[in-house]
Amino acid sequence: LRTLKVALLGCGNVGAQVARILLDDADMLASRAGARLELAGIAVRNLDAPREVELPRALFTTDAETLVKDADLVIELMGGIEPARTLILTAMQNGACVVTGNKALVAKDGPTLHEEADRAGVQLSYEAAVAGAIPILRPIRDSLSGDRITRVLGIVNGTTNFILDQMDSTGAQFADALAEAQRLGYAEADPTADVEGYDAASKAAILASLSFHTRFSLADVYCEGISAVTAADIAAAKDAGFVIKLLAIAEKLGAGGRETGTETSRETGTETAAGDTGVSVRVHPTLLPREHPLAAVHGAFNAVFIEAENAGELMFYGQGAGGKPTASAIMGDLVSAARSIVLGGPGRAETTTGKVVALPVTAA
Ligand code: HSE
Repeated sequence: LRTLKVALLGCGNVGAQVARILLDDADMLASRAGARLELAGIAVRNLDAPREVELPRALFTTDAETLVKDADLVIELMGGIEPARTLILTAMQNGACVVTGNKALVAKDGPTLHEEADRAGVQLSYEAAVAGAIPILRPIRDSLSGDRITRVLGIVNGTTNFILDQMDSTGAQFADALAEAQRLGYAEADPTADVEGYDAASKAAILASLSFHTRFSLADVYCEGISAVTAADIAAAKDAGFVIKLLAIAEKLGAGGRETGTETSRETGTETAAGDTGVSVRVHPTLLPREHPLAAVHGAFNAVFIEAENAGELMFYGQGAGGKPTASAIMGDLVSAARSIVLGGPGRAETTTGKVVALPVTAA
């Protein structure tokens, strides 16, 4: 079997699990990918930081740039915009396929990253960036590519779902439910990105872009978090037969909305800019009837509910955060990218613009 070199950038909770899987499940991954996936190195800021998983010291380096230039596959789990953005662009310019979980970067700068991936003929994938372990971007991009999605409703932030669920089930005030989420390790010490809806808004931009074949960035998403939701709001909703959920919503506007996005993309293969797309993308606390399937999503779980013209209603449910669940999504993208290289080199790699590749036949 051919060997493909994998560079891992970042070794937090998710990165450490990815490294563990690459080392422990090497044979399984080789049979799935049709190539051995060799962990060539792990770039970190601090060589001495404690890790979730014990890993060979020799794998670690602080020189991300050199590591990236020598890799066939690059996994970016550093988070933040820079240096992640430059390293990803460098990797693709050098012919490497890139897998990232960086929702903030993809939401902010997705078009630039996709243009570079298309130019370089490499695969760029980020299933882990939205709803952790839940396979949602690939189903939207591939399985539903012959249908028209009309609406996406997502519980895509586990911390806020936990907080609202606590308030709903115990009558707690927001501050007390937040403190409980922090005690259990769901919410960060600085919970702003979660409770103000920014994390969900990045994910909404990504979901909307793929669902409506239109480029939405974070700036296109209306965003309102849950910090102003009170115990009285929740109680009143409950009395009326509703539950309050923080939803990421992307939907086609009704009559009067202009349908430009999908038409343009089908004609030219070029995605339309957001603006007059006839699609509304937003994140805000939403009253949901208690019998809606999303109302049954409790605790820190995530779920995405999709409505499509022919498929009807679909729901995807699972763990939206955490080392192992998120690593699962990273590994799926990695195996897929490796297969595309094995199949015909990066020049024939599948990209999100929809080139089709056949799966290689591999040993069981
Ligand atoms: N802080 C996020 C959440 C983690 O609570 O869902 C995954 O993006």
